[in-house]
Amino acid sequence: MNIKIDRMNLDDLKSIKDILSLEFDDFWNYNILKDELESKNSKYIVVKDIESNDEIVGFAGIKIFIDEADIMNIVVKKGYRNKGIGSLLLENLLLLCNKSNLKSLSLEVNEKNIPAINLYKKFGFKNISIRKNYYKDENGIIMKKVLV
Ligand SMILES: CC(C)(COP(=O)(O)OP(=O)(O)OC[C@H]1O[C@@H](n2cnc3c(N)ncnc32)[C@H](O)[C@@H]1OP(=O)(O)O)[C@@H](O)C(=O)NCCC(=O)NCCS
Repeated sequence: MNIKIDRMNLDDLKSIKDILSLEFDDFWNYNILKDELESKNSKYIVVKDIESNDEIVGFAGIKIFIDEADIMNIVVKKGYRNKGIGSLLLENLLLLCNKSNLKSLSLEVNEKNIPAINLYKKFGFKNISIRKNYYKDENGIIMKKVLV
């Protein structure tokens, strides 16, 4: 695979607008993501497949709160999963955090989302707390990685 990673802009988001829910799971909708991109505290990155006309095959973003950040989303296009793209995105989010001298990176994940939980564990994130029934009858897990 020949891929590249870049900061995400509005044109990137527009290019995946119609396939967000179909190809990237039932993730945040276009308008919420647009607000995120326009927020000065948010940083978003994309992975593009060079061999497929720079098609966007994954994206991820963090929101910074003073000296800490939360992962707002990280998602890989169906058909491109399990090839290391999620790891590449997370690695680059961590680099962004380091560049901004942040103390920690946290996230919230559905307890049933094993691929995501495994990804976060692989990068040293630890379970911090549980949000009971955050997803109807399923719990959310708060995970965190201390960076300094
Ligand atoms: C979670 C997600 C981003 C992972 O992306 P990916 O490109 O498949 O991840 P990678 O190929 O880099 O895999 C990284 C690690 O994740 C874990 N993983 C990935 N897919 C997995 C699966 N189907 N089952 C179990 N673990 C899995 C493994 O630990 C893997 O490490 P390994 O390859 O060394 O075993 C992807 O599954 C996705 O987009 N899911 C839908 C969106 C989502 O749920 N995002 C997280 C919200 S909190």
